[in-house]
Amino acid sequence: MEQESSKANDPNPPSELVDATQAAPGSDASGHSRRVFLFNVALFLNGIVGTVLAIPIIGYLLGPALRKRSSQNAWIDLGAASDYPEGETRLASFRDPFSVPWDGQTAEVPCWVRRIRGNDFQVFAINCAHLGCPVRWFAQSQLFMCPCHGGVYYADGSRASGPPARGLFEYAHKVVDEKLMILAGKLPTLAAKNCGGPRLTQIQPTAATEASAAIASQKPGDDSWPA
Ligand code: FES
Repeated sequence: MEQESSKANDPNPPSELVDATQAAPGSDASGHSRRVFLFNVALFLNGIVGTVLAIPIIGYLLGPALRKRSSQNAWIDLGAASDYPEGETRLASFRDPFSVPWDGQTAEVPCWVRRIRGNDFQVFAINCAHLGCPVRWFAQSQLFMCPCHGGVYYADGSRASGPPARGLFEYAHKVVDEKLMILAGKLPTLAAKNCGGPRLTQIQPTAATEASAAIASQKPGDDSWPA
């Protein structure tokens, strides 16, 4: 007992005791710095993984808007103007500027090209103005005909008969360096020259259609329901 107390009061303690007491704060510091280092590495790796996962999501969300902006004013080359004989209407096709490479054949869009004379062209959307079936050109009768409900159009795209309420839709076009270009990034619109008036953007209800809608909406028990 006496010996122990004398050791404690010894002004020159043994060297192993000195090492032990001095090493403790050092080991805490190195452990702490190792934890900080590992935390930073984990943070860095998480950042990389997060970035890799976020790229396709951001691309998916922003892709359509970016693609739309760049494709809206896309002029598409339909080939040499000389490929289209004067006075004839021929089928052509172009690649949808809004498509992506994996759309494959579905991105090919057909259209009808009519060369009137010189650089005077008309480029029609192939879809019927009624419900969108593809119309066919019959050179013998000089008519476009729709196989779905019998819609018929004249050679200049104007409506001849059948259910369509308007003529065929046309693409804006121009001839540059002997090449026929169409503005395929925008939906084709009804050419004013084909309908003989302002462009139609909406089918206005007539008195007859309003009357039929009113009859269709009647229910048993209504005052107007026939007795
Ligand atoms: Fe062409 Fe109906 S879709 S007439």
